[in-house]
Amino acid sequence: MPFAQQGTPTKHVGAKKKCKGVADRSALPFSPHDPRNKATGAFTTPQYQTFLQDGQEQAIFSAIARGTWSPASEDTSWRSGYRRYGASKLFLIMAILHSLQHRLDRDPDRALASKIAVVGVDPGGMSTGMQRNAPWFMRYLIFGIIYPIMTMLWTSGRTAARTTARSAADVLWAAFDVGEPLPGPLPKSLYFDGRELLATSEESRDEQKWALVWRETVKLANLREGETALADCR
Ligand SMILES: NC(=O)c1ccc[n+]([C@@H]2O[C@H](COP(=O)([O-])OP(=O)(O)OC[C@H]3O[C@@H](n4cnc5c(N)ncnc54)[C@H](OP(=O)(O)O)[C@@H]3O)[C@@H](O)[C@H]2O)c1
Repeated sequence: MPFAQQGTPTKHVGAKKKCKGVADRSALPFSPHDPRNKATGAFTTPQYQTFLQDGQEQAIFSAIARGTWSPASEDTSWRSGYRRYGASKLFLIMAILHSLQHRLDRDPDRALASKIAVVGVDPGGMSTGMQRNAPWFMRYLIFGIIYPIMTMLWTSGRTAARTTARSAADVLWAAFDVGEPLPGPLPKSLYFDGRELLATSEESRDEQKWALVWRETVKLANLREGETALADCR
């Protein structure tokens, strides 16, 4: 969930240790090559190992936006939805974390360019309303029983299961406290899993792809000149 942070970040000495390096891993649903995804079996076919395949970016973007990519009619298991969820998260990272920050940085309005930083936070797995339509074993067994026990046993680090309170605190930390340990005046285009700095997936960092995702998203949202503070929103 990327969001914009505005103004000068405060110093946060406690963050120093945690933000020194950038781990070369990214969040699970939009990283088909993450070894942890092997167990899901969702990205085994070559068709799904890259979301926007070379030469078909526009057509695949359109299919994903319209919900016809990885449809339930083709794969009746939960994996079809998991892939679409991953695509939505990838596009969020591309359009907001990378594209929006890029546009803000080169906006002629220097105040806009220098004072807004886009930061993303992966809150980890939480038991919320999101699982309401999941199969029973996920809803009751995993998120109803196993996850709450895991959150009591493991309370720090990049744990799979987290409470909503802990993840909300991580989002507030990213919005108000992160900054001083990181390079540059503002922590721009940074992505955290909880409070650990991560590189977003290789595909998400492809400039041509994130520029396409921005352009197409602006068209779908019917965003017009003057409806945003950006000098160039297209
Ligand atoms: N839970 C997790 O493990 C997890 C992990 C990583 C990321 N996330 C992300 O965190 C975000 C929040 O998820 P959550 O776990 O808090 O799920 P949730 O309990 O289902 O909450 C989703 C919220 O979004 C609102 N909403 C859904 N569709 C909407 C629409 N079309 N227009 C306006 N509001 C809408 C819902 O409102 P109503 O209640 O009124 O329907 C609800 O308040 C999502 O982006 C999710 O992908 C969650």
